[in-house]
Amino acid sequence: MNTKAVIVSVLVAIVCVQFANSLVCYTCVTPKDCKSPKKVTCTNAAANETSNHLEVYHQNVRNATSTRFDCLALKYTWNNDVIHQLHGCVHPAVGPCSLTLKPAYGHYNKTKCLTCSGDKCNKSPAGKMSSSTVTIAASVFGLLLVKIYV
Ligand SMILES: *[C@@H]1O[C@H](CO)[C@@H](O)[C@H](O)[C@H]1NC(C)=O
Ligand SMILES: *[C@@H]1O[C@H](CO)[C@@H](O)[C@H](O)[C@H]1NC(C)=O
Ligand SMILES: *[C@@H]1O[C@H](CO)[C@@H](O)[C@H](O)[C@H]1NC(C)=O
Repeated sequence: MNTKAVIVSVLVAIVCVQFANSLVCYTCVTPKDCKSPKKVTCTNAAANETSNHLEVYHQNVRNATSTRFDCLALKYTWNNDVIHQLHGCVHPAVGPCSLTLKPAYGHYNKTKCLTCSGDKCNKSPAGKMSSSTVTIAASVFGLLLVKIYV
């Protein structure tokens, strides 16, 4: 095999991994935890995990099984203290941002709730380089390689 073919296949492989890979979300379940969130690849088990946490504070969290997932970033405060923070993979069917709080927690202020569908789009509160930056960097690097070798 010649070098050119090898490089092209490597590039194709990189691109395929970028697009075929399943969704990756930041995950953390407490405000302390969320200072250094982990990353998780979304599966039904990971989304069920998030549902279990949602269920502690909310009513009517639906049981769901999904083939496609979203990332969630959720934050409740009370008198400027972050009381409850949850990041992770969710079943889109659960609709985490429109859930009703249990009466006992009704006084919490929902200061942030979003679901999104790009890799690591529920950004780490610490603020990391976004995956699109990495993608662009990888593409530029790939083009450079092609220029050098082809
Ligand atoms: C996730 O929860 C659903 C609904 O309760 C259940 O049917 C499914 O088996 C669970 N999946 C995993 C991987 O735990
Ligand atoms: C979800 O499943 C659990 C047990 O698997 C059950 O107790 C609960 O009632 C179900 N919730 C809904 C909304 O169907
Ligand atoms: C909840 O949010 C509202 C609007 O941002 C604010 O006026 C209120 O003081 C907050 N309440 C608490 C207990 O933090």
